[in-house]
Amino acid sequence: MRFPAWRIGVFLAAAIWPLLWLYEALADSLGPDPGKVLVDRLGLGTLILLLITLSMTPLQKVTGWSGWIVVRRQLGLWCFAYVVLHLSSYAAFILGFDWSRLGVELSKRPYIIVGALGFLGLLALAVTSNRYSQRRLGTRWKKLHRLVYLILGLGLLHMLWIVRADLKEWSIYAFIGGLLLVLRIGPVARRIPRLMGKKMPSVIKTK
Ligand code: HEM
Repeated sequence: MRFPAWRIGVFLAAAIWPLLWLYEALADSLGPDPGKVLVDRLGLGTLILLLITLSMTPLQKVTGWSGWIVVRRQLGLWCFAYVVLHLSSYAAFILGFDWSRLGVELSKRPYIIVGALGFLGLLALAVTSNRYSQRRLGTRWKKLHRLVYLILGLGLLHMLWIVRADLKEWSIYAFIGGLLLVLRIGPVARRIPRLMGKKMPSVIKTK
């Protein structure tokens, strides 16, 4: 296994936040509505992890260090774990597992439909993120995994719908997302290593 300490460090850095928030909830330090705070933090965590995962390939191109690619899949799976926790805390703390309220909830909070589409996209990517699916799907795998940019768009739209008037924080995520999308465009992506005066290592596959 390459870069074991780096992989473990990334694992711990991603795992620590939900544990810390759970501890805060148990210690009664999340304010009067801890359930909602957990839903919000996990939602934001999902979006941030999505952006971090998408920045691994450009970072590898800019720095030439293959360590970024080594943790890309792990970060993508963490993003999925966060969205599962986000959805579960919504079901537990906002819905109270009362599924009969779902119809009213969807008309009251239509942004949930956008979030649910994003969740389904992340589920498809997580299920097919293994080597077996990569081999079986061949060139279709790459096409499928381009869905990640649509998922990012859905995540940003979902958040925009929630924050509405307070666009400051949202604009930062949207800007980073837009930048990552531009860096992904063929002619721009090809120029990155040249701009940095680096040669692209031929052994590393990038998305
Ligand atoms: C079935 C799937 C989903 C459901 C049911 C759901 C539900 C929710 C709910 C109820 C909130 C809190 C709204 C409020 O503060 O009033 C929220 C916030 C949020 N969600 Fe989701 N969500 C889902 C999927 C996603 C996905 C896929 C992403 C990201 C890619 C995401 C990112 C966010 C963000 C960034 C926030 C705002 C956090 C903040 O304001 O600090 N959610 N979501």
